[in-house]
Amino acid sequence: MAKIGILTGGGDCPGLNPVIRAVVRKGLNQGYTIVGIKNGWKGLIENDIMDLNIEAVSGILPKGGTILGTSRTNPYKKPEDLVKAKDNFKKLELDALIAVGGEDTLGVASKLIKDGIANIVGVPKTIDNDLSATDYTFGFDTALNTAMECIDKLHTTAESHHRIIVAEVMGRHAGWIAIESGIAGGADVILIPEIPIDLKEVCEVIKKRHSRGKTFSIVVVAEGAQFKEGTFVTKEQELDAFGHVKLGGIGDMLAKEIEKITGYETRVSVLGHIQRGGSPTAFDRVLGTRFGVKAVELVIEKKFGKMVALSGDKIIAVPIEEAVGTLKTVDAELYEIAKVFFG
Ligand code: F6P
Repeated sequence: MAKIGILTGGGDCPGLNPVIRAVVRKGLNQGYTIVGIKNGWKGLIENDIMDLNIEAVSGILPKGGTILGTSRTNPYKKPEDLVKAKDNFKKLELDALIAVGGEDTLGVASKLIKDGIANIVGVPKTIDNDLSATDYTFGFDTALNTAMECIDKLHTTAESHHRIIVAEVMGRHAGWIAIESGIAGGADVILIPEIPIDLKEVCEVIKKRHSRGKTFSIVVVAEGAQFKEGTFVTKEQELDAFGHVKLGGIGDMLAKEIEKITGYETRVSVLGHIQRGGSPTAFDRVLGTRFGVKAVELVIEKKFGKMVALSGDKIIAVPIEEAVGTLKTVDAELYEIAKVFFG
């Protein structure tokens, strides 16, 4: 019987379980056996698998995270791992693998296809929404709504205490969560990785706002925003298997500087992994479901090397390389809209 494997790699996000459920339901309908590979590429290296029958995916639609587990394992890091991944793909007798992930997971998928190791179809996931070739990744909408709700909450306490609150949100290279949660939450300043921070300008905006009688301000900053281009603020220097540093700390640094320059009492709130948790929004459940069904259709059509993508209101197939070649960053036009409400 034809067999499809599915794995979820990289940072988790709400919407992964709806994708898994859709792949299993559609796959079983079409007569496939579905095998879950645990913990991303790590599971392929270690042959750590689970059966995915209809019972295994029952009730998972509203659940955040991934029933398969995930990791940031890179099989190209050690040659012996690549050999194991290749052998296990054969051993499992997989006709195809559906890889659900972001830039790193799909980057590995792209290499495995080029190296003739596996037949893969990709599904784009990340709360950062920074994958090219798709209008949206699932997970982003839930994270965005979580961030917006947190900003709403920060507003009331900032107002009561007449403080500035800096909210640090996720977003390594792209400021999608920052810009959209900032617009939706009515932030007074929004800082994103795409535009280096001009501290003087930020403080002037805040002072101008306070000069018209406001006694509080909300500043939203993406964790990847930089004072000078190319200089990330990091927690530690250690790199992960894909060469990324652990970001974090820009909010704290910014809060201290704002307080020093403006003289206004300032606090920082780091939203962190809260943005990756919780139950997926309806948008992410529907998008994940549509992606999962389409991924199986691509397997049936043997369209390997393709990734499912959202284009307008249609689900289409695009080459995986198109999605991982360059990141989709926030465009200047959207930032100009956000700026109308600064100060
Ligand atoms: O998955 C993307 C992301 O949430 C980034 O925004 C963030 O920098 C990173 O993951 C955090 O990763 P980890 O869970 O490994 O700390």
